[in-house]
Amino acid sequence: MKRREPINFGWKYKADFREEYLSPAYDDTDFDNVEIPHSNIEIPYNYFDEKIYQFESCYRRKLHIDSLKRDERVYIHFEGIMTYARVFLNGVFLGEHKGGYTGFRIDLTDALNTDGPDILAVYVDSTERSDIPPFGHVVDYLTYGGIYRETALEYCHELHLEHGLIKPDNVLTETPAVDMDLYFRNDSGRAQSGEMEFIITCRGEEFFRTGERLTFTGKKEQKQVCSFQVPVPQLWDIDNPVLYEMETLLTMDGEIRDSRTFRFGFRQVDYRKDGFRLNGKLIKLLGLNRHQSYPYTGYAMPRSAQYDDAEILKYQLGVNTVRLSHYPQSRHFLDRCDELGLLVFDEIPGWQHIGDESWQALSLQNVRDMILTDGNHPSVFIWGVRVNESQDNDDFYRKTNELARKLDATRPTGGVRCIAESSMLEDVFTFNDFSHTGENSGLIPPSRTSGKAKPYLVTEHNGHMYPTKKFDDEAHLFSQAKRHLAVLETMYSREDISGSIGWSMFDYNTHKDFGSGDKICYHGVMDMFRLPKLAASVYASQQDDSPVLEISSSMNIGEREGSLLGDIYIFTNCDYIRMYKNGVLIRDFHPRRDLYPSLPHPPVIIDDFIGDAIEKNESFSSRDALAIKELMLKISREGLDLGIRDKIRMGWLLFKNRMNTKEAEDLYTKYFAGWGGEATTFSFTGYKDGQPVKTVVRDQNSPVSLKLKADRETLHEGETWDCLRCTVHLEDEYANAVRYAHESITLETEGPVGIIGPKVLPLTGGSTGFWVRTAGAAGTGTIRLKSERFGVIKKEIRITKN
Ligand code: GAL
Repeated sequence: MKRREPINFGWKYKADFREEYLSPAYDDTDFDNVEIPHSNIEIPYNYFDEKIYQFESCYRRKLHIDSLKRDERVYIHFEGIMTYARVFLNGVFLGEHKGGYTGFRIDLTDALNTDGPDILAVYVDSTERSDIPPFGHVVDYLTYGGIYRETALEYCHELHLEHGLIKPDNVLTETPAVDMDLYFRNDSGRAQSGEMEFIITCRGEEFFRTGERLTFTGKKEQKQVCSFQVPVPQLWDIDNPVLYEMETLLTMDGEIRDSRTFRFGFRQVDYRKDGFRLNGKLIKLLGLNRHQSYPYTGYAMPRSAQYDDAEILKYQLGVNTVRLSHYPQSRHFLDRCDELGLLVFDEIPGWQHIGDESWQALSLQNVRDMILTDGNHPSVFIWGVRVNESQDNDDFYRKTNELARKLDATRPTGGVRCIAESSMLEDVFTFNDFSHTGENSGLIPPSRTSGKAKPYLVTEHNGHMYPTKKFDDEAHLFSQAKRHLAVLETMYSREDISGSIGWSMFDYNTHKDFGSGDKICYHGVMDMFRLPKLAASVYASQQDDSPVLEISSSMNIGEREGSLLGDIYIFTNCDYIRMYKNGVLIRDFHPRRDLYPSLPHPPVIIDDFIGDAIEKNESFSSRDALAIKELMLKISREGLDLGIRDKIRMGWLLFKNRMNTKEAEDLYTKYFAGWGGEATTFSFTGYKDGQPVKTVVRDQNSPVSLKLKADRETLHEGETWDCLRCTVHLEDEYANAVRYAHESITLETEGPVGIIGPKVLPLTGGSTGFWVRTAGAAGTGTIRLKSERFGVIKKEIRITKN
């Protein structure tokens, strides 16, 4: 019987390495007590030496192994150790693993003590070894270090299923089927046979059951394929992601010897020249790239943080696709994508560089591990089998493609490139298109990059073309947003582009060769705390599930170049926006389909702040009032440097209405700049189906207050430690971000919770975030946030524990 026992607590860790640490006799009381996921060092937010995590270290743990029957074995499974590991039990070397993005198992059985506890020691090398992908040249992200993904003991029968790959087939027909590849491990060396039972359930209800007699050779590794017809299932779709479970039971000599449960979905992906189809339905892929990094802990974050990222993509950013740039990521992230109906582009580790033959052999191993580990996730719709943006290497990429197709022909291959016309061995031409400069068309036509009749997907755009900080001025934030908008418009307008995946979901720590000199690449539509920049609303406003109304300006003319407000964009999915100024209706504004004909939801552009107020309040004729308004709007956009026709028009209007320049200026101030008035309040209400669904108010005199929000109220310490994100916002009374606040806050905790990272934080762009983590006990934890100006805010978190 197979049994999994998570072992994420109770580890000892030393941030250096000496051979003697591997000896079971070594006294490790000077080691730190740590828990997995663990980062070999906590790194500062920015401005640090990128070498600080690149060192050798040692982890130790006492294991209490249950007594094993003669035909049982015990393995240890590591889901991710960055970057190289050697595993020892009781001083005996048992195996090594190269590469931090794929898991591995080591058989402990032969080195077990007959009595007393067993001492596990793991040597971890987190240096950037050029023999392991992605290393060998520069890389635009950090890889961090340590045992950063979960670890478990696996008790198995000597003949057991190591991987099971479920491949639903013909799911759109009346005769759907399942092919299942069964990868067995036979440690007995003997030929054996048994009955394999397959039980498929959906939401706890049995859906189908069948069985088959299997015979095994004495070989250590062997593959069997079972195929069976099943009843018509419910399909996994992005709107209704129905999941099934497959339980496999292997009975030998009347006893169940091995059992596994796999989650999967019935769905069909097809990629053709005219686009991507899920279950036969054409879908435009709108996505963002995700790194698996977080501030301070790097990669070492537990399940709930991975879940949260998937939820942010689905619910907050409203996209339907995510690319795991540039390596396979946590199973928890994929699990949540399965549950939410978020499509995933999975790819092998690497960045531009291809190493020598042994490096390439590891890369091929990565293809295999990626597919066997992630292959049951219905969310994964494509395998990326090229090193991101590498040069052509047909011999190597013929092999990666061949292997991917051999292991899983149900999904297409892609290979992310940035070189037009590069050698095309994959099923989909997946191209990083950084051609947009803010002025030109959003994307290059596929005929100019792929030149071939292949399906086409844009896998990156924007990013380094316009780095943007959450605390940049509003003109800069707006330009970033507009660039994403332009790319999306082009993508939606072209039938030969199946979708686009923007660079990137959030900012990330990086090496000295990239980023803004502080070891951060500010390429995200969110910051490292997953707090949105304006560009995030370009994505969010394309969905229909929740109303979005995000205004590109704070409406302060003093923020703008030349004190000119210009056109204000509203990123929204509302049918129209009704605008009031100081309580007076200006007018309704509609999405600008004339400018953005292809977007699901074009932005609304506010280009009139006056409405008919001049006509109503002043004694001009209607015609003159309109002409004066038009001139004012022009000045507000372009400044006073008017062309000759407008100058004449202005002169004529002044003369005709007996106004001097001072009176004209006063008029402009009254209706435009709003100087000297009590207050200028703009209110924008979005309507959907005739109903108001969202209102945003901009009022320059509004008082501000500090808000602390926790993403959840509870933490649960189960198989690992747990965490939740808190965000801090300084807001005005209408909940607008106060973007130039740099207030400092201090955090204190009480009870069984801790703060990840520093406890004194500045707001950046009016907000910040931090993660609260469990500290080993159940109970109630309190977070106290102190600010000199705004006092103390308290938040209670309930912690449960298994
Ligand atoms: C791409 C690369 C990404 C990131 C991005 C920045 O070339 O694939 O990893 O560096 O540029 O825009």
